[in-house]
Amino acid sequence: MKEQLEQLLAEAIGQLKAQGTLPDDLPVNIKLDRPRDKSHGDFATNLALMLAKPAKSNPRQLAEAIIEAIPENTLLAKTDIAGPGFINFTISQDQLKDQLGAMFSSDRLNVDVADNSETIVIDYSSPNLAKEMHVGHLRSAIIGDAVSRVSEFLGHKVIRQNHVGDWGTQFGMLLAYMEALDNQSAEYELSNLETFYKAAKQRFDESEEFADRARQLVVKLQSGDEYCLKLWNQFIDVSLSHCQDVYDRLGVKLTRDDVMAESAYNDKLPGVIEHLREKGLLTEDQGAQCVFLDEFKGKEDEPLPIIVQKKGGGYLYATTDLAAIEYRQKVLGGDHLMYFVDARQSLHFDQIFTLARKAGFVEGDIKLDHYGFGTVMGKDGKPYKSRDGGVTKLADLLDEAERRALELLQQKTTDLTEDEQKRVAEVVGISSVKYADLSKNRTSDYIFDWDHMLTFEGNTAPYLLYAFTRVNSIFYRLGETGFDESADFILDDERELALANQLVRFNEVLVQVQNKAMPHFLCGYLFDLAGRFSSFYEACPILNQEDEALRNSRLKLARLTANVLKQGLDLLGIPTLEKM
Ligand code: ARG
Repeated sequence: MKEQLEQLLAEAIGQLKAQGTLPDDLPVNIKLDRPRDKSHGDFATNLALMLAKPAKSNPRQLAEAIIEAIPENTLLAKTDIAGPGFINFTISQDQLKDQLGAMFSSDRLNVDVADNSETIVIDYSSPNLAKEMHVGHLRSAIIGDAVSRVSEFLGHKVIRQNHVGDWGTQFGMLLAYMEALDNQSAEYELSNLETFYKAAKQRFDESEEFADRARQLVVKLQSGDEYCLKLWNQFIDVSLSHCQDVYDRLGVKLTRDDVMAESAYNDKLPGVIEHLREKGLLTEDQGAQCVFLDEFKGKEDEPLPIIVQKKGGGYLYATTDLAAIEYRQKVLGGDHLMYFVDARQSLHFDQIFTLARKAGFVEGDIKLDHYGFGTVMGKDGKPYKSRDGGVTKLADLLDEAERRALELLQQKTTDLTEDEQKRVAEVVGISSVKYADLSKNRTSDYIFDWDHMLTFEGNTAPYLLYAFTRVNSIFYRLGETGFDESADFILDDERELALANQLVRFNEVLVQVQNKAMPHFLCGYLFDLAGRFSSFYEACPILNQEDEALRNSRLKLARLTANVLKQGLDLLGIPTLEKM
């Protein structure tokens, strides 16, 4: 509906240009907002305020001219001018009903398939494999996964890339430690990577001999020594299966096939340096190979280097990312490269993107975006730590979520068996952690608080999951009898209308989530939808409604609500439950 209205406005602007009210060459950006107050209609625009000056008119007068120029249509029931010259639009009920009907009979809720379908390469999760995944890895995995799902649903081709860190000096230390243990205990100790890493680090710090061996092993590994590669492969394999366990528990869609590790670019790195040299971009600085770009200056205006090769010949994080960016466009065919990585890496990505374009690692109008996110904080306002003050392993965090969810569920009366309840607790626990993250604005830090996420009140996973089961229960009670699915929608009650208005926004919200890479818009939308359903359900009898037509219409609204909740949660990577 938004698109249709935009189209009408574009036609009106065209008309005003043709008749000379607006300058012919004036660029016009049509922007529609949602009025805060429903009494102001369904959409609003400040177009007349923006264009009054170039039109040499006053805003209210121009607003009138715009309204006048809107072609005849069945979309709008009402248009009015408010305040200094805002235009408010009210969509006609017939239009709303058509839209609901189209959603009802479509298995993709009538969500448009993007006509500008792109190949989107999405870099997310991408942990370093030296250690086990911890709470700092939560956001990239969860947010990146939701945006991937929404992008796919909107008809884009999504290629997931898990750019895991599997190369670098710390692996020498780990290999030296593996070597020092006999096979059996190595296997045992690798089952907890966290302690393995700690133990290796301790040995490294304490023993000069061990440290030497570690450094020796890195050099050997990097020169392709078979024995070292074997040890390294063994380690990487264990570490990746730890990651996979976490992805599977979190319902994150990544698999081993999506892993494109840093080491996969190793043989491309000399070429990256060569290419930069040919382009005249390389400068030697204290033995290291660097690129200085005018765009990047330090606080004192001193030039900031992008170091691409160390003094001893080793390559860096930036070098690998340059190779990866080229691969993503030229081999994978990406039109848009998205990176879900901690906001603290924003300078790195700025530099890489600018350099990649300048040096021709990417060409044409490819879109490159780093979507940063804030830190997960503890209640004390400092980055989240486990009780012993260490980093919290994700696997432990998820165990705790399931345990706490079970406690929450046990406070409720239920007709679930003990086993069913345990299964439900797993879903509720994991979903709560995910939803707490997804529902916050991506760019800000957020406080990880069990009590806030594991409650049936407010914008939480338990609330939404429960709301879904409530809608669903109507159809359980209805049983086999069914209802007339071809019945007309009746929207006479204000609560029916409010629910309907929210339902038809689904498409628009998904587009917004995709454009901004911000899943919290979808969370807010679903929370609002559940609230409106609840008001509707309390005020408008459904199953014991005697008027057949009204009963059918309300059942259709309920069914549509269930479908949108289910689809919406699924796009967030959250499964729904039939019963709770
Ligand atoms: N492994 C990196 C880290 O843990 C993140 C990698 C992000 N992706 C990338 N292409 N640089 O900080």
